[in-house]
Parts: sequence; structure tokens; C-alpha cells
Amino acid sequence: MTSTHDASTLVTAPGSEWWRTAVIYQIYPRSFADANGDGIGDLPGITARLDSLADLGVDAIWLSPFMVSPQNDAGYDVADYCDVDPLFGTLGDFDAMLAKAHGLGIRVIVDLVPNHSSDQHVWFQQALAAAPGSPERARYIFRDGKGENGELPPNNWESVFGGGMWERITEADGTPGQWYLHIFDPSQADFDWTNPEVQEYFRGVLRFWLDRGVDGFRVDVAHGMIKKDGLPDYTPPADGDSMGGEDDDVPYWGQPGVHDIYRDWHQVLAEYDGDRALCAEAWLPTPDKTALWVRPDEMHQAFNFPYLMTEWDAAALRTVITDSLRAFPAVGAPATWVLSNHDVIRHASRLALTADSPQGEGIGPDSAAQPIPELGLRRARAASTVMLALPGSAYIYQGEELGLPEVIDIPDDARQDPTWFRTNHEKYGRDGCRVPIPWEAAAPAYGFNTTGDAWLPQPAEWADHARDVEAADADSTLSLYRTLLAERRAHLLGSAPFTWLDGFADDVLAFRSGDVTVIANVGSAPVELPAGRILVASEPVDGRTLPADTAVWLLAD
Ligand code: GLC
Ligand code: CA
Repeated sequence: MTSTHDASTLVTAPGSEWWRTAVIYQIYPRSFADANGDGIGDLPGITARLDSLADLGVDAIWLSPFMVSPQNDAGYDVADYCDVDPLFGTLGDFDAMLAKAHGLGIRVIVDLVPNHSSDQHVWFQQALAAAPGSPERARYIFRDGKGENGELPPNNWESVFGGGMWERITEADGTPGQWYLHIFDPSQADFDWTNPEVQEYFRGVLRFWLDRGVDGFRVDVAHGMIKKDGLPDYTPPADGDSMGGEDDDVPYWGQPGVHDIYRDWHQVLAEYDGDRALCAEAWLPTPDKTALWVRPDEMHQAFNFPYLMTEWDAAALRTVITDSLRAFPAVGAPATWVLSNHDVIRHASRLALTADSPQGEGIGPDSAAQPIPELGLRRARAASTVMLALPGSAYIYQGEELGLPEVIDIPDDARQDPTWFRTNHEKYGRDGCRVPIPWEAAAPAYGFNTTGDAWLPQPAEWADHARDVEAADADSTLSLYRTLLAERRAHLLGSAPFTWLDGFADDVLAFRSGDVTVIANVGSAPVELPAGRILVASEPVDGRTLPADTAVWLLAD
């Protein structure tokens, strides 16, 4: 296979592939760094800032979509899977970014969005122009409506972004026509994955990026690609998670047919050198269910969303960690860990909320629950200190290493998430975790660019979180993450044996990971530390007493 990949520096032995233990940093391109100053981050911006990620100590980066897109869902509505949107640069800019990353020893994962395309994709445009029943329509999920004149949607499914899951089209002759399915926005039409033409097309998309040298794919909505035969009506539970986190038999989530697709893709990746990997975005309720996605011939990793959705509660954390470390290795896969991404409330705010905060709900100025910033940050630092000691692979989301909180007071007229519009402003959505990140306190847009423009407004307090400020402060969240990543690597924690330790209060997490002892005080009473030298602490520790919401790594003297 041809590849721009430098196999000599990046190949590992079978069984110890890089993705089993990697710390993977999620870049949200539009909010990372903006080289041309138009207010939206871009690929040259990423290239220019990669050194700081090498300095942080990450093994890989995952980029949210930068392919051609009308940007109705921030690039998760792809119109051309094999080209870069001019907003983000060119294929040449991508190649330069990849070469720079590989030169720094950083692998590159790109986002693949196979469940749906933009309505601007050439196939969807052809489907609109073609007749009902045509091969062009068969690439998507078109159906006749119900009711006397087809005026009612084919079933009662509700879109994740609010409103119905069906949109009616006007046929080429001007008459009201068929309906098409969209799990998300109406501009994101779901493909029919039972169609061999769709399957073959995506094999080609995988090969396009593999040939360019990418190390893998994060697969968007991996649990949604197959819909139950007959598309039966379904009403979700009133308090359910819209991404399917809680319910067991949703006709558009987790259908068994998805596994055939991943087995096929596994084969495509296996044709290439360099341990290429697939990571599933699959919102499933338990680690055991998630583990079905990473059986030996399927995906290599799946996000551990049950872990992300666990509150700051010792018993609940013990359970999800125990279940994860049993379920994933049982199928030969690494456990994964994640606390934040571009779809959820940043954990520096979420962990100080007591109410549930399901995917996409967001928080805004009028939300009933408001996090206390100091408490959230303190818990976030402790939670990250726990997470980065756990064996397996960990994902961190840009800005969490700076301790960024969710931005709550974004003005209504600046909000951009389709959730906000599709729910008639009832749900704030995800803009609060997507604000461009700060680099230099004194620069325009805090160094995001040189013009001061930013597609979402940055809060004034973010000067204190700028990377240059935090880099100069030994107690900053950035310094904490740098130390955690360096010690994780030095003590091989990604592949370390794990055991829980007895003899601590119920609201304390205590475990050994390799030669490191981790103690996290998830309760409110101070905890007496066992013997051992403090290697890392999420907050300053006075003597041998661990304060509330604090975690340490200890080494035997
Ligand atoms: C995934 C993405 C999210 C997007 C959705 C639709 O959940 O992470 O940002 O809106 O898929 O593509
Ligand atoms: Ca730009």
C-alpha cells in the first residue's frame, strides 16, 4: 500500500499497538487556532500550534470534521468527503499539518461522518432530481408519507436536534413529494447503509484518507447507521438521552447490522501498515454494550460514554471503572476514558452540577442549575488526575488542559448550534463548550488569531486561562496536565496492572495502577493519606491530609 506514513518511527509490535495506551487530544478545528484571521480556526492554524501539543505530551490528535460542508452542524454535514472546506484550508494544508504532526511523533485521526451527508452532497442533489424508486433515491432513506395525500411523515421518530425526523421534499415537477429521514438536522440526510453502493463509496473514502497517511478515524454516530426493518414507530422515554444512552431497543440506535459494516472496515484498515485504528462514537448505556463494538474484528476503540456520564460520586465511579476494566479487555480491546468533548458540557462545569446534563442540552443564563466555577474546576482537576492514571487510552478535549469552564452567558444572537434553533431556544445546545480557546492573555482574541475576530465570543475571564499564563504557573491546570502526562508515560500507566485498595472510606477512590497509588477524595471530609511520596497532586496538599475534591498519585518511598 502506498502511504505517506513514516513507518520506521511509528510502528509498534502486535499487542502493544499505540492506540491501546494513547492519550488522544481532540482538536475542534474551528476553535483551535485561526491562521488567516477570519474568526474561524483552520488547518494552518493547527500546524502552527502543534509544538505546544507535543510539549503537553499527547500521543495523537483527533480532528473534528474539516471536509467540504455548508457548516449547518459545524462540519458534521459533509458535502464532499474527499476534500477540505476552503474555510479550513486545502488538501495541501492538511498534508503539511499531518507531516508536521508525524514529525513530532503525534498520530492523526480524522472524523468520518458516515451516517448522513449534507443535503448539498452531489448524491442528495441527484436524489432530489430523480424519481421516487430510482437508484439515486435508494442511497438515502426516502419513503412515501402517510395520510390521504402523503402529507404525514412515515413514522413518529423525533430528531436528536428537536422536531420530527422526516422532511418532505418537492418533486422535480413541483408537486409535494416523498419524505427523507434525518436523525439530526434536515440538512443532514441519512444514508441507506443496506445499499451496496453506499458501502462501496465509503470504502473509497476510508482509502482516500488512509492513502494520505492518517492513523485512523473517529466514526461519527457509529450506533445509528442501521435502522430497524420496517421503521416502526418509537416514543422515547420522557427523561431519556436523545443519543440513546439509556434505552435498550431504539429502532435507530445500536441495531445489530452495524457490526457488519465495522467488520468490513476493519479489513480495509488491515490492508495498511502502521496500526491504523477506528474509534466508535457510540452512545450506549453500559461498558458491556459498548464492548460489543470493539470485538477483535470490529472497531479498535469506542468512547466510554458511560464513564463520561458518571457524576462525581465515588460509588458510581468505582462501578463504571470496574465494569470498564472487565468489559473491554474481555474482548481484547483497551478500555477508553473521556470526560469532555464538543457535544457535552465541559467537565470543569458539569462536575459541579447535580442535575443530569444529557448530550446536547447545554446550559445558559436561564438554566435552573448553575455550576459554582471554583468547585467545578477543583473536581475537574481531581477527575482528570484519576482518569489519566487508568490503564487504556484517554481522550482529552482542547481547552480542558487549561481548566476551561463551559461558557454560559453567550448572547442569544451569537448562538449557532442547530439544537438552539430546532428547539425554539428551549435547549441551549453545545456552543458553550466550543468557544475559541485562549493562547496568549495579551493578544487579540487571546492569540486565537491576530485580528481579534472569533466566531463565538470569548469571555473576559479567559485571559487568566491563556496558555502563556498557565505555562508560567506551576500550580495551573496546564502544569498539572503536563505532569500527569509525563508521569503516565514514565510509569507506563497506559498498560499497567490495576487493583482497588481496601481500607478507605466509601467516598474515597483508592487504587494501584502499576507502581503508582492513586487516592481521590470524592467526599467532603479530609482523608489521611497512606505512606508514599506525592508524585502529583490535583491541589496543594498540606502534610498528609487530602482535602475534599482532591486526588494524588503516590509512589512508594
Ligand atoms: C455526533 C457529533 C455531533 C454531531 C452529530 C451529528 O454526535 O459528535 O457534534 O452534531 O454527530 O453528526
Ligand atoms: Ca480561519
